[in-house]
Amino acid sequence: MNSNDKLIVVAGGGGNLGRLLVNAVLADPTARVRVLARDPSKAEVKALAGDRVELVAFDAVTGSDPDRAAAVRGAYAVVSTLQGGPEVIVDAQLALLKAAKAAGARRFIPSDYSYNIFTLPPGINVNSDWRRTLAERAEAEVTETFEVVHVMQGIFADPYVLGFLGVLDLEKGLVRYWGDGKTPIDWTTWEDTARFTAAAALDDRPVPTLLFVAGDRQDVLSFAKIWGDATGRALKLERLGSLAELQAEAHRRLAAEPGNMYAWLPLMYARGVFGGQALLGPLENARYPDIQPLTVAQAAAKVRN
Ligand SMILES: NC(=O)c1ccc[n+]([C@@H]2O[C@H](COP(=O)([O-])OP(=O)(O)OC[C@H]3O[C@@H](n4cnc5c(N)ncnc54)[C@H](OP(=O)(O)O)[C@@H]3O)[C@@H](O)[C@H]2O)c1
Repeated sequence: MNSNDKLIVVAGGGGNLGRLLVNAVLADPTARVRVLARDPSKAEVKALAGDRVELVAFDAVTGSDPDRAAAVRGAYAVVSTLQGGPEVIVDAQLALLKAAKAAGARRFIPSDYSYNIFTLPPGINVNSDWRRTLAERAEAEVTETFEVVHVMQGIFADPYVLGFLGVLDLEKGLVRYWGDGKTPIDWTTWEDTARFTAAAALDDRPVPTLLFVAGDRQDVLSFAKIWGDATGRALKLERLGSLAELQAEAHRRLAAEPGNMYAWLPLMYARGVFGGQALLGPLENARYPDIQPLTVAQAAAKVRN
């Protein structure tokens, strides 16, 4: 791949995925990065500073049109790893996308990094609904020279994410699941997602609108066995209920505590994961042969080391 000193703008570059993405872009020695962060003096943002990295203070919600234009000036691609509610995921990302287009960028990659949000029915996961709303509005901005690319890679094969979802409880040596446990699930590591996203951002070729990539596909029963074998500690399984019970519980918690997303959002994701409606489409891994994404077994072995 010839990057010809491309500038990749990363909105949310100080976040978990954002930091990995910045490093993945910089692995190309001719690429440069502009990190947009609300507070570039934060330790995790400052740690990204370097010869080929520019740190810029930018608030995606309160920033003005001139702020946005300056933030994306000269970009080959603008990638978002922003996290937040609809004011960020829909409104702020759309404004940034339009600024990227006006600045002549080749493509915008919104903050999706999910299972297939386009086949998941509406009303199951509010986070996916916001991302689909953004995608619908973004479609109107696509031209022959300006792409919008949705990176989708399934669930991050990572104890923190699986803990958030309520699936993996390492303290108790437990894997919890809903449904029959036999629904396939797509898995990719954070690092591999960052690598594929960087490759898509820097790509000289047209990139598909839906960029499906993944390291593995395993149902949760197989996942538990593979993870246990690779880490040397057998995991017990606990079935929490049916998919209908999962959905009802998510809605019950949402009604009871609408302001506390930690009460219901994990269940909404779990419904997406275990429901089997959000499987990735045909994988595009082969576009980027330098990236050999980890399988669940390899990801688990890495956690053990
Ligand atoms: N598939 C999966 O299993 C999975 C798991 C986890 C995450 N994800 C996805 O990955 C993406 C990134 O998640 P993450 O965990 O890396 O998020 P994160 O660590 O919370 O990072 C999000 C970044 O967005 C920034 N941000 C939020 N609002 C902003 C604003 N108004 N202006 C400027 N910056 C703003 C935050 O900056 P501050 O530091 O200033 O707050 C932070 O750096 C999301 O789309 C998320 O849904 C997927």
